[in-house]
Amino acid sequence: MTYKNNFFKSALFAVTLGLTGGLVATPALSEGVGVEAELQSWSFAGLFGTYDQNQLQRGFQIFREVCSSCHSANLISFRNLSEEGGPGFTEAQVKALAAEYIIIDPEIEAGERAAVPADRWPAPFETELDARGSNGGALPPDFSVLAKARGISQKFPYWALNYFTAYQEGGPDYIYNLLTNYHEAPQDVEVPDGKYWNAYFGGPISMAPPLDDGFIEYVGEGNGEVPLTTEQYAKDISAFMMWMADPHLASRKQMGFRTLTFLFLLAGMMYLVKRKLWANVEH
Ligand code: HEC
Repeated sequence: MTYKNNFFKSALFAVTLGLTGGLVATPALSEGVGVEAELQSWSFAGLFGTYDQNQLQRGFQIFREVCSSCHSANLISFRNLSEEGGPGFTEAQVKALAAEYIIIDPEIEAGERAAVPADRWPAPFETELDARGSNGGALPPDFSVLAKARGISQKFPYWALNYFTAYQEGGPDYIYNLLTNYHEAPQDVEVPDGKYWNAYFGGPISMAPPLDDGFIEYVGEGNGEVPLTTEQYAKDISAFMMWMADPHLASRKQMGFRTLTFLFLLAGMMYLVKRKLWANVEH
């Protein structure tokens, strides 16, 4: 009897724990998210995914011409732009690009100098106070690893399936959906001055819609046919931000695949060795 009693008690406890866990976890999961994310197909998804060099160049153009006037990217150096697996600029192009920027350098007499490829990407504001001052009190987050710091929330069973599909594109999917969901606020909602309604953010955000159809002409070969729409811009900048946050993604995937192939072959060889060793043993 006591045994049974205890059993029911623990079962009840487990169920209650599960329910409370679920209740507590649900608001945290859906926090800040209004509409469901529309998942995009990314060239860098899946087991063999790699970055699309042209797309990274377009994303960089948007970063440079639009986002970098508010957002810093403190971990990125100019020279990263010519490294393998990235946007694929030549060293000469990167050198010329860097020379267009000024670096404040208290260690030299002039106090400032032209940037070189080894320099980090210069921040748009000198201090956080300046950044907030220009953005109605809100701080535009640094871009370096932002694509890894954000992700979409999915309902069960979709997030569970991600373990099998190797889905890792939650960051770029989040950024894409954020950038493409600036809409009119619902009628019963009042958006404070200096804020903008974003249906994916699930409320007012302090960033004005940074993209608009046709507002950037893409330069560079191979980009002539690319549509000049908010959706396309959003996709390109999201891909570029993913590259910034995870520049070695492609080589890591390759290494993973090679390792798996090696282990598979090794397993086959070990099996043959085992058969040979035990061939003359009675068993
Ligand atoms: C005029 C300044 C400005 C520009 C230009 C700008 N942003 Fe922002 N951004 C902000 C501010 C301010 C925030 C913080 C918003 C908040 O916390 O409400 C922000 C936040 C963000 C966030 C984080 C949202 C979150 O989940 O917290 C992302 C992602 C983002 N911006 C992407 C971009 C991209 C991509 C571009 C270029 C296409 C861009 N921003 C251009 C000011 C700007």
